[in-house]
Amino acid sequence: MSERQVDSSKRTWLIASGCAGAVGGVAVAVPFVSTFQPSERARAAGAAVEVDISALKPGEKMTVEWRGKPVWIIRRTPEQVAALPKIDPQLADPKSERKPDELTPAYARNEARSIKPELLVVVGICSHLGCSPTDKFQTGAQPSLPDDWPGGFLCPCHGSTFDMAGRVYKNKPAPDNLEVPPHMYLSDTRLLIGEDKKA
Ligand code: FES
Repeated sequence: MSERQVDSSKRTWLIASGCAGAVGGVAVAVPFVSTFQPSERARAAGAAVEVDISALKPGEKMTVEWRGKPVWIIRRTPEQVAALPKIDPQLADPKSERKPDELTPAYARNEARSIKPELLVVVGICSHLGCSPTDKFQTGAQPSLPDDWPGGFLCPCHGSTFDMAGRVYKNKPAPDNLEVPPHMYLSDTRLLIGEDKKA
């Protein structure tokens, strides 16, 4: 976007907001750019989040915020874990091979997409246009879902469905599985989201 294309103050503001590093020549943008430093608050927003999962029972989900995104932590039941391989033929990317570095860290590139088989940690944002899917853990026939539904998530925006490992079903608007964020266990009951290497 060149300076010549800037034809109104509003437009200039949009460009300054979107391309802060590249607008030094636009005089009106300089005051804004000069304040564009990472604040303590912004650093905190990107920091890892420690979560106590001791109260999370089988079949339950909790949500924590990390970098402004909802991260779901779900303690799956043994039945939910056992059902995962059977769903593979219906999924777009059952082995999490697409965008592995972006969506599925190496330690979660397995059938359950998790470090511990029972504990799923995923970002609750649909890979289509960013809505947050709804829990549909109950199995069986129900509105908007197939009669043999094994439990998972339904995106209310355009109907994409995900299994209990956040893997997207075939032929849905969402192209990819839900993102597994970097994470690690500090103990059996404490989870760290946002970091996956021991210091
Ligand atoms: S945003 Fe989820 S299906 Fe479109």
